This record gives sequence, C-alpha cells and structure tokens, in this order.
Amino acid sequence: MAKLFVTFEGGEGAGKSTQVARLAERMRSNGQIVTTTREPGGTTGAEAIRALLVNGATDRWDALTELHLINAARRDHVQRLICPILERGDVVICDRFIDSTRVYQGIVKGLDDALICRHHQDTTNNLWPDLTVFIDLDPEIGMVRALGRSGASTEMRFENETLSFHHKIYFGFQKLQRAEHQRIIAIDGNQSAESVAEAVWAVVSSRLNADV
Ligand code: TMP
Repeated sequence: MAKLFVTFEGGEGAGKSTQVARLAERMRSNGQIVTTTREPGGTTGAEAIRALLVNGATDRWDALTELHLINAARRDHVQRLICPILERGDVVICDRFIDSTRVYQGIVKGLDDALICRHHQDTTNNLWPDLTVFIDLDPEIGMVRALGRSGASTEMRFENETLSFHHKIYFGFQKLQRAEHQRIIAIDGNQSAESVAEAVWAVVSSRLNADV
C-alpha cells in the first residue's frame, strides 16, 4: 500500500487529536502500518522544545523566535521519526504541521509566508503533507472545549490568547484552505466525532484508492 503523510489542522479544541486517533484505527484495520504523532513535539528533543513554546506568558517569544524554535523541533521530528517511516512505505498522521506555522506565525503573527516556506524547505528538505484535513469549527465553540478540558495543564500559552486572536487563527486556516484546496480539505467540525470521522475517512479512502 502507498506511503502517506496526513496532517490535521485547526484551532484549539477543534477535535484534531480525537480524529487523528480515529483515522489511525481505521487505517490499521484496513491493513496499514500507521504512526500517529504531533507538533510541536513527536520526538524526545522536539517535546523538550514544545515545553518552551506552549508554557509561559503569551509574549514570552516573538514570532521569529517562535519560528526558529518550531523549526528546530520540526527538523528533529522529521529526521528521526517522520522520514524513516515514510521511506519504509508506511503512514504518518500528524496533529499539526507546516500549516499551523503559516497561520499562527504567518497570517496572525505577521511573518511572511514566503519566508516561512523557505525555512521549511531548508528544515525538512521540503517535506509537505500528501493530504491535510482542516477541522472547521467556530473558535468560540473550540475555546469552550479547550478550556473545559485544560484541567491542571500548564500548556496554556496559546489558549490564553484573546478570542480575537483565535478568530484570526480560524480565518487564517479558512484562507489557506481555500487557496490550497487540492491538498487541504475542510471538514465541518460541528458534527459528532463519529460523523467527522466518517467524513475524514471518505476523503482519505478516496485518495488511497486513487493512488492504487
Ligand atoms: P496543540 O494545542 O494542538 O497541541 O498545539 C500547541 C500549540 O502550538 C497550538 O496552540 C498552536 C501552536 N503552534 C504554532 O503556533 N505553530 C506551529 O507551527 C505549531 C505546530 C503549533
């Protein structure tokens, strides 16, 4: 079966991690070898960098420093985990990747998209997802979910941003999805987790069949 690199994108509380797990389960029952992972993070080194990014005050880093931290984490993740799996011909499903950088550090925090893509090329040898699922959910609903489940988590640096920040993130993902609709598929996040999973599977299975 074909190797495949799938990413999930969206705002806080959109249900990405649930859908990553559901898709992996479905693909495994279909006979594929699937690894799930996340960004920032996914390897020991990248998880250490993640802790710097997601904890502390919202103004702890400026956008360019964030970009460098994210790329340092991403390089380790791509080199040590993602590429070896794809080279074996297996499947990687990742919770966030380059499109989060283009939206958070780019569209919302002001870095130029061409600069972000240039750094991405150097960092990853230009690794792009085969397919990206954008879970389209109103940020007001997403933030209620995200804050509701945060419990004792200290990983609140981005969640603590204003609602207007989260609206900009949402519009940023919508803009990117419209511009790159061949690769980035929008799925309505207002449905039950079950229905979202069915919609995701319809897209992924049609891509898999197209590649056979
Ligand atoms: P998570 O809450 O989905 O685990 O992601 C952690 C945070 O990191 C999330 O609020 C968005 C942020 N982030 C960026 O700002 N840029 C990036 O490139 C990535 C991958 C995540």
